[in-house]
Amino acid sequence: MAKVALVTGGTRGIGEAISISLRDAGYKVVANYGGNDDAAAAFKEKTGIDIIKFDVADHQSCAEAVAKITEEHGAVEVLVNNAGITRDSFFHKMKPEQWREVIATDLDSLFNCTRPVIEGMRERGFGRIVNISSINGQKGQAGQVNYSAAKAGVIGFTKALAQEGANKGITVNCIAPGYIATDMVTAIAPEVLQKIVSQIPVGRLGEAEEIGRVVVFLVEDQGFINGATISVNGTQYLHG
Ligand code: CAA
Ligand code: NAP
Repeated sequence: MAKVALVTGGTRGIGEAISISLRDAGYKVVANYGGNDDAAAAFKEKTGIDIIKFDVADHQSCAEAVAKITEEHGAVEVLVNNAGITRDSFFHKMKPEQWREVIATDLDSLFNCTRPVIEGMRERGFGRIVNISSINGQKGQAGQVNYSAAKAGVIGFTKALAQEGANKGITVNCIAPGYIATDMVTAIAPEVLQKIVSQIPVGRLGEAEEIGRVVVFLVEDQGFINGATISVNGTQYLHG
């Protein structure tokens, strides 16, 4: 039987590519989304992948969704915590809701979606969790104090949980993409985006498929890659 993989934010952008890559690798994928019904319906029509709508920032909704997926398809053995948002603003202008929405969607979501699957993974002695952080969680980004804090938190979450599950057959890894050509990035003002691209040594934005391939690589690994953060950023930021 194909292993069940839940991809949060799996209907658009990077998540869409992750869902398709996992499906092509033989997984039974369920793709979550938050509100864009039209995009989700188009994704389902195009790929045939099952979709499920719930808010990753809401703990109860996540627990109910995992229970529903388990009942309909079987236990979730692969979880990709991908859903995320930006609410960019310089910090001196940032409103409390811009802080809270980003922390809730980009960081609380990891607790909300992982907590309902982790006990089953421990009992079965197998699990693969991949979290999507960001280059801006590694280096910090002006205009994104909220997002940089959340995405740095994703890396800490990954390292700590990896240690807890290592002797239970569970790996928890993290990907830190650079700037990838999705709606999130094309929303940046053109003159600012031009400046950003000029700072990427390979001279282009990344493609969502370049992240999908790394997710499959981590999910298929035998278990010795654990607690790692893999940078996929066109050489924009290199670190020790
Ligand atoms: N890289 C380089 N320069 C940047 C920059 C960036 N990421 N962000 C802002 N700047 C520069 C601007 O070009 C501008 O320079 P000049 O004064 O020389 O014109 C200066 O900082 C001030 O910017 P704005 O005039 O745009 O200021 P604002 O108050 O109108 O807007 C802002 C502030 C909302 C933060 C806006 O600058 C912005 O959207 N910046 C982009 C921030 C960013 O990188 N977001 C990433 C979104 S994609 C993502 O998050 C995915 C991921 O993980 C990589
Ligand atoms: P995107 O194109 O904006 O897609 C975001 C996806 O997340 C959509 O499917 C969206 O659902 C879903 N989502 C948002 N909020 C949600 C919520 N509260 N509950 C459930 N689903 C929710 O974004 P992307 O560029 O693909 O980014 C995907 C992830 O990669 C994010 O975590 C982002 O921070 C990270 N990342 C992106 C880049 C980049 O350059 N693009 C770089 C580094 C890291 P709807 O369609 O319903 O809105």
